[in-house]
Amino acid sequence: MYSFYTDEIIEEVRINNDIVDVVSEYVKLEKKGKDYFGLCPFHKEKTPSFSVVPGKQIFYCFGCGKGGNVVHFIMNAENLDFIESIKLLAERAKIQLPEGENDEDREKAKLKQEIIKVNTEAARFYFNILKSEKGQEAYQYFRKRGISDQTVRRFGLGYSSMEWSSLYEHLLDKGFGEEAIIKSGLVLPNKKGGYYDRFRGRVMFPIFDIRGNVIGFGGRVTDNSLPKYMNSPETPVYYKGRTLYAMNLAKNSGQKRIIIVEGYMDVISLHQCGIINTVASLGTALTESQGRILKKYAEEIIISYDADTAGQAATLRGLELLDDIGCNVKVLTIPEGKDPDEFIRKNGADAFNRLLDHAKTLLEYKAAVLTKQIDTTTAEGKLIFLNKISDLLVKVDNSFEREIYAKKLAKDYEISEDAIITELYKRSKPKANFRATAVNTQETVRRDIVKNTDKDEEKIIHDERMLLAITCTDNSVYRVIKGRMGAEDFINEHNRQIAGFIFERLDQNKGIVIAELLNVLNPEVAKDFARIVREECNCEDNCKAVLDIIKRIELFKLTQRQQQILKILSDKTQRSEGDVERLKQELNSIIIRKRSL
Ligand code: CTP
Ligand code: MN
Repeated sequence: MYSFYTDEIIEEVRINNDIVDVVSEYVKLEKKGKDYFGLCPFHKEKTPSFSVVPGKQIFYCFGCGKGGNVVHFIMNAENLDFIESIKLLAERAKIQLPEGENDEDREKAKLKQEIIKVNTEAARFYFNILKSEKGQEAYQYFRKRGISDQTVRRFGLGYSSMEWSSLYEHLLDKGFGEEAIIKSGLVLPNKKGGYYDRFRGRVMFPIFDIRGNVIGFGGRVTDNSLPKYMNSPETPVYYKGRTLYAMNLAKNSGQKRIIIVEGYMDVISLHQCGIINTVASLGTALTESQGRILKKYAEEIIISYDADTAGQAATLRGLELLDDIGCNVKVLTIPEGKDPDEFIRKNGADAFNRLLDHAKTLLEYKAAVLTKQIDTTTAEGKLIFLNKISDLLVKVDNSFEREIYAKKLAKDYEISEDAIITELYKRSKPKANFRATAVNTQETVRRDIVKNTDKDEEKIIHDERMLLAITCTDNSVYRVIKGRMGAEDFINEHNRQIAGFIFERLDQNKGIVIAELLNVLNPEVAKDFARIVREECNCEDNCKAVLDIIKRIELFKLTQRQQQILKILSDKTQRSEGDVERLKQELNSIIIRKRSL
């Protein structure tokens, strides 16, 4: 909607500016549960009513009603328009905006393009060497690891020869400028004032961004010398913490979950076996930026890191991080300390898929880790375990889920279910700001529509927004919407447009989060959505809430039509005999339909 920058760029800027970090530069925030609270910077107050929800990347003030995503926060705090705010945030996150207005911006954008071209040429160069005489040993190395020719092509794998500067010379021959070559990180300065190739004698893995541009490389030795892997440094086009290896492929898998593994070879092996919804964090600790990308493209994320101690620690950190930003996350542990690559090569895709079916939830994983640390055979140990497990359980938002867990844990670890429930009781507090909107019963609905006033229409507009807000906070509900309701079924014109935007995304399996939706809304509507998410999207069961709303919209429409028909029928000047019959029939079917709702 803001034609100046593409939605993609705006979203990149948003994702790379964590709302808690940004707001913290203006407001002293205090963490309560998963959310943050502070004194509102937009109106005078003495007790905090300003809140930030990191999981949804939105802010909302219960006092003055201001709300939105990080861009709206900057608009309000700095008194800037949308585009100016995007610029400020891009600067903050060191993101290069395209087609800048001034010469400096334009130069930077040009350099970035040039570096990507250098990288692309380098990938081609490494690939050709792998296919040549010089690359035979490296090619055999891939062969031995079970990599097919097709996979080599798909991932653009290659080999960097032992020569000191063959890539550097090749790039100069191709006419690339020194600046782009140097800034690509592919060459390093030597003592004589010249340059030499960073990667030599390694099998090469090009790293792609989400659009498929080559932004960097990883290189592995083919023996057991060290360092095993070398990677491109951070460059104007490559930021490690923002990249997920193979995300450009995984995003098209059409699947609702994404598996995250540690290394290049894990991804490549799994993809070769048809499990293409796999990405890698490339050995570094998962960052929030990566987490938010995952959240955008997947309804469920499965962490499958190595089972060694380092891997286990990384798993827990990753789990916490993803859980904090509101992802559904599970852990897949590979038996016998193997990594996913070794496992699938030995046991095949079916065995891997069976492991997937037994992936553990955050809670199950933590419980399993706890039992390794605590001796639960003693009474004392059991008590410690019960306490720790109850601390974890009480954080589960959904009461139904909590109950299932309590049952399962009681059974798995031989503790009494009653004991767990008692512990949970002790720890539970009434939820603040909870409104049981979704449980608005049908009775109220029926009462409401006796008279079809403007108020009812306002309510329906609100309900429609609620449905859209729930869909953005929990993409999985789209399954129950699809087939029952399309964008064109929304009563309010504006909501219809928004629904069109959201549903198109979800139809393309492209995930959407609430903060992203807010990007494209005008600030007033964005504020309303932030309020709805903050105050009302607290449903026990999202699917049920959505179904209720769909029903209510249909009921509203039927009632509207019913009244229209009654009006026509009562106006004798407006109708012919044939019409009366047809209208009466329609009226009848409306009544029947309404009864069945
Ligand atoms: N890594 C790295 N630098 C290292 C070691 C590892 O950047 N010195 C990153 C690489 O992205 C690697 C990932 O961490 O893919 C996982 O490391 P590791 O488990 O050691 O390697 P594998 O992926 O299992 O590689 P391989 O199977 O080729 O040994
Ligand atoms: Mn490995």
